[in-house]
Amino acid sequence: MGKVISIWSAGGGVGKTAVAIALAENLKKNRKTVLADFKEITPHVHRHFNLPLTDKSDIYEAVLNDQNLEEVMEKHLHRKNGLWIMTGFGLDSFMEFEARHFSAVLDFLRKEFDYVVVDTYGGIFLSSVYSALKHSDVIFAVSTQEAVNIEDTAEMIGFVSSRWVIDKNKFKVIINEMLDKKSAELEFIQKALENEIFFVRQGQKNVVRDVGRIVKTLFCEPQGKRFFLKEVKLGGVN
Ligand SMILES: Nc1ncnc2c1ncn2[C@@H]1O[C@H](COP(=O)(O)OP(=O)(O)OP(=O)(O)O)[C@@H](O)[C@H]1O
Ligand SMILES: [Mg+2]
Repeated sequence: MGKVISIWSAGGGVGKTAVAIALAENLKKNRKTVLADFKEITPHVHRHFNLPLTDKSDIYEAVLNDQNLEEVMEKHLHRKNGLWIMTGFGLDSFMEFEARHFSAVLDFLRKEFDYVVVDTYGGIFLSSVYSALKHSDVIFAVSTQEAVNIEDTAEMIGFVSSRWVIDKNKFKVIINEMLDKKSAELEFIQKALENEIFFVRQGQKNVVRDVGRIVKTLFCEPQGKRFFLKEVKLGGVN
């Protein structure tokens, strides 16, 4: 069974998709990884990879009729440079899909992949978010360094973990677009959040670097480590 990792936030536009892409691109190096777009209504991932947004009504029908998803999922999975991508759910799907449909998709994906990276909508109002967080082994709550955003994040993690019965330890916080760690009120941030905190600096290259560091800290399993070391050694010889 694969691990489900959701990228979520209290508010919008904080860098969830940027982090989700960097995370998936990093995990794919050692493991079969899929990036699933669960930002229902206005999905964005397909745009980043120049992919068509496929109509998902066949998934809805398959779940409704208790059919195996295998036959219908093939159409919605695309491979780009070794990363698998499942495109999102537009407005038509939003009108039909409920939590059980999203859950069926995640159950299928975690059987097929080692890592399922799920890019979600911010907030708590959609069944796709509920399903993603309920299925997750790890949830990254992305926030900016602004006090109001930190406070919202802490409050939402508390609310979601108690109301939806999700282990609070599954939540890790990513403070994105750190401008200057020295000027940030680190003491305030650490006091407000009970969860493990990671920092991602501003700039596209920093997103890749800093998310790479998070992957090494949290997901470097023995097999992955061996692979990584071997790669470095070979590089040295050449
Ligand atoms: N660390 C960063 N440094 C520089 N730019 C960033 C960083 N993180 C995100 N961005 C940029 O900020 C914008 C918003 O990011 P993104 O789309 O990932 O946010 P989001 O949380 O997924 O938004 P939405 O809630 O609409 O889905 C994008 O243009 C993205 O490239
Ligand atoms: Mg997004």
